Amino acid sequence: MRKHILILGGTTEAREVGQHLAARTDVAATLSLAGRTASPSAQAVPVRRGGFGGIAGLAQYLRDNAIDALIDATHPYAPTISAHAQGAASQTQTPMIALCRPPWCAVAGDRWTEVLDVHEAVRTLGIKPQNVFLALGRQEIAHFASAPQHRYLIRSVDPVDPPLAVPHARYVLGRGPFEEERERALLLAHSIDVVVAKNSGGLATYGKIVAARSLGIPVMLLRRPPELPVQRAATVGEAMAWLDHVLKTPADRGV
Ligand SMILES: NC(=O)c1ccc[n+]([C@@H]2O[C@H](COP(=O)([O-])OP(=O)(O)OC[C@H]3O[C@@H](n4cnc5c(N)ncnc54)[C@H](OP(=O)(O)O)[C@@H]3O)[C@@H](O)[C@H]2O)c1
Repeated sequence: MRKHILILGGTTEAREVGQHLAARTDVAATLSLAGRTASPSAQAVPVRRGGFGGIAGLAQYLRDNAIDALIDATHPYAPTISAHAQGAASQTQTPMIALCRPPWCAVAGDRWTEVLDVHEAVRTLGIKPQNVFLALGRQEIAHFASAPQHRYLIRSVDPVDPPLAVPHARYVLGRGPFEEERERALLLAHSIDVVVAKNSGGLATYGKIVAARSLGIPVMLLRRPPELPVQRAATVGEAMAWLDHVLKTPADRGV
């Protein structure tokens, strides 16, 4: 009988997990999206959208759909859904793994400052007006309205609505991957003084980090939320190996 896998998504890795599982005949996978973006990327497996209703709602979903394994492949800066996944998996005794790409590490030439959150980022920008590239989610961007002296370049997947309440903001729409060459052109075209971003890890959004390094531009990185004490995989391959192990019957595993 086919095993049911729930992938919590919204990331490149979740899409890749879906592609791997779509090619298998022994599993049926569903990918769950929060439903934030207006036109999400195409997926290889069936998709459900919208919140579950906290830990209890997710636990109910796992029971109702007889989920055999849960892969939390959400973004490293999405701590609420990951905590809910941990709680629901534990309540229902569903095997679970968190697939989370490692953060970027600074290399020679990087001019990074780590800040706790957007409030500290706003404070650290200071009073003197600067040209700031905000490569953050729409929710975080709103906080920069408290520093209207800066000129902002704001990139998002969907339009920022309502726009940031500051006199100088420009918007660019885009979905990664973003290549270094084009990132460098963007930083130069807008005379960017500082980039504010998340330490997302992976290659899709690393182009701006490399471009900033090559231009000597400082980068302010929001600190990652703390990691939960759950089993983790750093790559899709590791998560797939874990799944193979979990799906083996006790007899297969020699138990
Ligand atoms: N935060 C980022 O920087 C970022 C970047 C790229 C992609 N994403 C993706 O965007 C989604 C939302 O991010 P967030 O920062 O708003 O998350 P969050 O703060 O951790 O989650 C807030 C609520 O959204 C719902 N939710 C989140 N992810 C879901 C999923 N995959 N399927 C169903 N419900 C989900 C849950 O609602 P209920 O409690 O009702 O279940 C959760 O409690 C995540 O799936 C994440 O992978 C986030």
